[in-house]
Amino acid sequence: MLNIEKSLTPRLRMIASLVPECESLCDIGTDHAYVAIYLAKKGIAKKIIAADIKKGPLMQAEKNIALFEVDSKVETRLSNGFEKISVGEAECAIIAGMGGETIAEILENEKGCRYFVLQMQTAHKYLREYLSSHGYVICDEAVCKEDRKMYTAILAMRGEGQNLSETEKEIGPVLIKKRPPLFYDYVRYRLYEIETILKNMKDSTSGKKEHFIYLKEEYEKLLKDDTNG
Ligand SMILES: C[S@@+](CC[C@H](N)C(=O)[O-])C[C@H]1O[C@@H](n2cnc3c(N)ncnc32)[C@H](O)[C@@H]1O
Repeated sequence: MLNIEKSLTPRLRMIASLVPECESLCDIGTDHAYVAIYLAKKGIAKKIIAADIKKGPLMQAEKNIALFEVDSKVETRLSNGFEKISVGEAECAIIAGMGGETIAEILENEKGCRYFVLQMQTAHKYLREYLSSHGYVICDEAVCKEDRKMYTAILAMRGEGQNLSETEKEIGPVLIKKRPPLFYDYVRYRLYEIETILKNMKDSTSGKKEHFIYLKEEYEKLLKDDTNG
């Protein structure tokens, strides 16, 4: 018996964990469609559109959807972002496995969804800044470790935007508040990134170096609260 849970890597599991129960969902950039299939199997979303801009990934998604026998709940759609999604068609949208800038670009044409589950590979600050200045509120966040990399994901809803500090934009306001088990490992992971950047950075007058030094100090302050560290 095929078990979709075996196909979920920690990153995909984390994305799925943030999805609220909903009537309808679109997974923009579905690729393998594993998250969509899992959500259909679990009944977390009743109707799912697994969308991708490319035919190749969509064909793979179709194969997997048939293999796991969720064809009645998951349909595939060739779509650039929300282009082929109608207004009000999806209560929740997942946009995952892309850079923060691409996710923000896709959100520009969203179609009235209530929930947004976003997982950015890069540009954390850019995406959280975009959300806070475009009337979204970050309601929940999660962190995971997969192989030697660490990832975070966001559950956002439409609201009045929010004011975020530089550190909250980088690390995540909810993660800083909730401090889940992998939180301090994640801060150390981001601190290591900054230390590497600083090591390779020549003295600059643009203020970039000062910004990274500021972040380094902020991360070190967060790590002082780690009683196991
Ligand atoms: C790295 S994969 C991520 C797949 C899956 N969401 C995940 O998190 O594992 C990115 C997928 O997004 C698709 N994609 C990129 N830009 C897109 C866009 N503007 N609209 C729809 N799909 C897009 C790509 O074709 C690719 O299949």
